[in-house]
Amino acid sequence: MNLYKKVLNRFLSSSNTLARYSVKVRRNYRIKKFWDRDKQIVELGGGRYPINKENLNVDVLNHYTTDIVADMLQGLPFQDNTIDKITSVALLSNFSIKDLRKILIECRRVLKQGGELEINDVALNKVFDYYQVHGCDDKVLIAINGTQRDKYDIHLCVLDSTRLMQELHQAGFIEMKELTDPIKVGDRTQETQDGVNFSMRIRCQKNTT
Ligand SMILES: C[S@@+](CC[C@H](N)C(=O)[O-])C[C@H]1O[C@@H](n2cnc3c(N)ncnc32)[C@H](O)[C@@H]1O
Repeated sequence: MNLYKKVLNRFLSSSNTLARYSVKVRRNYRIKKFWDRDKQIVELGGGRYPINKENLNVDVLNHYTTDIVADMLQGLPFQDNTIDKITSVALLSNFSIKDLRKILIECRRVLKQGGELEINDVALNKVFDYYQVHGCDDKVLIAINGTQRDKYDIHLCVLDSTRLMQELHQAGFIEMKELTDPIKVGDRTQETQDGVNFSMRIRCQKNTT
């Protein structure tokens, strides 16, 4: 993280009223700009490293880069049929299968007709392939259990692309595609740890029927 972001995060976490006010103004401005755009693109759980500054970042933690602080297990903070695209990176593996299903249903609810959902996450089969060769090293531990930097950073459900597509289908998504190029997040490529790529990338659409 660059120095500028470090200072802003420190500023944000301070109890200073002015700091909190300026963050509120910035968030309101970004939310307004988001609704003024032709396309509404939301990133769920973008945390400190959202993919794109233009997207609206919804996260449970109050980072400088969070635009809406919300626990998505309480529902997504949007009206029905209002969002064009939802993306997430390294998020869904943080939830139990039951909660993941709830979140997929919520994504479907807020997406417009034909809206797109793109999920980037750890792929269980890739971790297993790596494990067969290297055994249970730190990369495997992190991929299976999460980095565990905070109470939200724990993996409860690591799927492979086939299972994820089944879950998406059940939640009312169609046109499933597995993309081969891993997504870039900030300075790193998702789930690439020292050159090891454990990621899967699935794109699909809301079924309108
Ligand atoms: C492993 S981090 C990934 C962050 C970022 N997408 C990246 O790739 O660096 C998971 C993110 O999901 C957020 N998160 C976890 N549980 C959440 C919840 N219930 N509601 C909203 N955000 C949540 C965490 O705060 C964290 O920022």
